[in-house]
Amino acid sequence: PNMQSLLNLDEIEEVATKQISKKCWSYYYSAGDDLISKNFNSQVYKQILLRPRVFVDCTRCDTSTTLLGHRVGLPLYVSPAAMARLAHPDGEHGIAQGISQFGAMQIISNNASMTPEQIVEGSLPGQIFGWQLYVQNDRKKSEDMLQRINKMSDKFKFICLTLDAPVPGKREHDERFSAVGASLPVSSGVKTSEESQRPGGGGVGQQLFWGTAADLTWKNTLPWLAKHTSMPIVLKGIQTHEDAYLAAQYAPQVKAIILSNHGGRALDTAPPAVHTLLEIRKYCPEVLSRIEVWVDGGIKRGTDVVKALCLGAKAVGVGRAALFGLGAGGTEGVQRTFEILEAEIKTCMRLLGAEKVSDLSPNHINSRMVERD
Ligand code: FNR
Repeated sequence: PNMQSLLNLDEIEEVATKQISKKCWSYYYSAGDDLISKNFNSQVYKQILLRPRVFVDCTRCDTSTTLLGHRVGLPLYVSPAAMARLAHPDGEHGIAQGISQFGAMQIISNNASMTPEQIVEGSLPGQIFGWQLYVQNDRKKSEDMLQRINKMSDKFKFICLTLDAPVPGKREHDERFSAVGASLPVSSGVKTSEESQRPGGGGVGQQLFWGTAADLTWKNTLPWLAKHTSMPIVLKGIQTHEDAYLAAQYAPQVKAIILSNHGGRALDTAPPAVHTLLEIRKYCPEVLSRIEVWVDGGIKRGTDVVKALCLGAKAVGVGRAALFGLGAGGTEGVQRTFEILEAEIKTCMRLLGAEKVSDLSPNHINSRMVERD
């Protein structure tokens, strides 16, 4: 289909669903248990209302911002998501190409379907990438990969350590539809496709997690990481104000945290990022000035992005939206996804009376419906 005829992210997901394999769809769509967290991630944004200010000159609208000291065109980035080539041969490289004109950042999954070298090839100067780490039981594998990423410091600017899924969640869609033994296009450099074909099946998620360490701790893992990279660390999967506060104690090695429940794919009924952000604002607001706080999960509209920014998030990630964009139209589908989101963010900022990202504040929203305790 003509990508320009697709007007929002739901329409893109609908087209992708028809085009990608059942196996791919069930892996992307799936989430833990009853999909409570996955669905709530999106619903919670609908319960936050905007408070537009009027009589503000909105001729200009600047969506650029600074992340970890790097200038980016949008406060929107692509979350690390495994296996993009399941959806389309353009894979993670197609995502990189599709977002390049927007100056958006991309985090590459430990379980990507292409190597980091392949993914960043042909990217624009100044286009920024992060590399997501699942520490392997065989530490040497992770150490070798970190060394490889260290060498690509013109492209890769940080390491994103994911903490919310020491084991995979129970994803029934994925278990039911992913045929055992089918070969997965995983070749991130850490994982090979043979390794992802363990007997015993389970879903794609279960297969990919094989060999991932479940013994990471605050005390042991960050010093180990410091020995193998001097890149800033971004901790992904923080879900409480207690852990956000702890993470901030590890600045400056830790420069950012990502409030995330893994798109609802890990622990079902874990809180959406917005709840954690509200907790932080209430119990330890100093975290927001010590380190950057990014969020992901459930983003469907530009208004969702702007609401998170109003609450103090520095950046907002999309996982499935990028994958479904790729599934709908390869590189061009990703480009269309970001075109829609960028336009929606701009319209929202203008109608809200905000000229630039730093104008957005808690005064622009009413979050009473989602506040508790
Ligand atoms: C993910 N996510 C993820 N996270 C991570 O740290 N490493 C990974 O390899 C993956 N893989 C992955 C695969 C697929 C198919 C999905 C949908 C998600 C989680 C991802 O980074 C992000 O937290 C969520 O996708 C955000 O939620 P939305 O935008 O998908 O609703």
